[in-house]
Amino acid sequence: MVIILVGGQWGDEGKGKVIDYLAAKADMVIRSQGGNNAGHTVITEDGEFKFQLIPSGILYPQCTCVIGNGVVVDPIVLLKEITQLRERGIEPKNLIVSERAHMVMRYHPLFDQLEEEVRGDDRLGTTWRGIGPAYADKVRRIGFRIGDLQKEGFMRKKLAFVVDQVKNPILTKLYGGEPYDWESMVGEYMGYAKQLDPYIKDTFPLIQEALDRKANILLEGAQATMLDLDFGTYPYVTSSNPSAGGALTGSGIPPTKVDLTIGVFKAYTSRVGYGPFPSELTDDVGDQIRERGHEFGTVTGRPRRIGWFDAAVARYSCRLNGVSVAALMRLDILDDQPLLKICTGYRFRGQVHDHPLANISHYKHCEPMYDEMPGWQSEIGAAKCWDDLPAQCRDYIERVGELIATPIELVGTGPRRDQFVTRGRKLFD
Ligand code: IMP
Repeated sequence: MVIILVGGQWGDEGKGKVIDYLAAKADMVIRSQGGNNAGHTVITEDGEFKFQLIPSGILYPQCTCVIGNGVVVDPIVLLKEITQLRERGIEPKNLIVSERAHMVMRYHPLFDQLEEEVRGDDRLGTTWRGIGPAYADKVRRIGFRIGDLQKEGFMRKKLAFVVDQVKNPILTKLYGGEPYDWESMVGEYMGYAKQLDPYIKDTFPLIQEALDRKANILLEGAQATMLDLDFGTYPYVTSSNPSAGGALTGSGIPPTKVDLTIGVFKAYTSRVGYGPFPSELTDDVGDQIRERGHEFGTVTGRPRRIGWFDAAVARYSCRLNGVSVAALMRLDILDDQPLLKICTGYRFRGQVHDHPLANISHYKHCEPMYDEMPGWQSEIGAAKCWDDLPAQCRDYIERVGELIATPIELVGTGPRRDQFVTRGRKLFD
């Protein structure tokens, strides 16, 4: 069975926890886009694990974890994550990195930061991890792929060209910075090559073989639909396609092999970085939710912007990705709210829109419309099944399900691995 898991809002929906839940029965987990701008948290009996590049299934030894061709890999970060796992007694023998995956090179984070600085007030609020510049180089065909690490002569020749002819002139002439020394970079990257060599493979035959034997394959989405380069709030987006289409091109799995797409949503909405956010809360309620939910970026530590659940966004995500099952996470963060609101659409120039607007300048003039519901005002963390949830909480979930026209099969009631309520549907059986 092949399952695609996508984030349905602006990221940080709690995907790591759902992936961990599904990875227990998965034979293979594949990351297909993004890079170390992602931060997936998994809490087990052994404590908290934060993954940026390594697929969250790594904690299950039976699960082959693939960093797919569509990911941009910073080798420094990947090696750090491998070391951190080893320090906790986990040898990532089940990790594979696609030869075709591009690298975030030493200069990419710097260019990310410099480009943001020159944008001034129009900056995007990127994570400064070099993601945009790395994908831009991939498209310009001056990128370096992980497999290139295994070809010293090629690396030498290409670094000489890219660093001296492309990067250094911009860095020195435009930004007044210090040039990179490509020769020392050759040595540096050959060091990474040695350490990463056991993990680098052509993932095509491996994934095809897994498909042939009908293995359980999980495509682990990073970021989210509203950050999608094509369908998100452009230009306030990331530089990859976190929606379902990106999962396929980023792994090499054909569309006809996909059995199920799961959309992960948070019971409210959050966003890091700039850009439109129609249901944003700028009052005390937003502050309370941020504090209770520890809504500070896993990667950058920035406070996340908080808002009510936006059903127009979630419905759009479901339709765009072909979501047939939804997970609604972090409901417990709303435990103490007396009144809950759900954005059902936007009023713009006298018309009601039930989906996000393509032209982001229109958001300035659009007014969100809300349904109001009473909160449950009790702790739901101990709920073991649907009937354990308070009636108002079930009503809230049902209303969200109705508005997004998708069944909610998984409900997150707390940070621990066991704090889940499922509604009967078996996944990966
Ligand atoms: P970039 O991906 O670093 O280029 O950042 C572009 C936008 O995507 C910024 O608004 C980031 O805050 C946002 N972003 C990137 N990765 C994530 C993520 O994993 N969760 C939430 N927001 C993200």
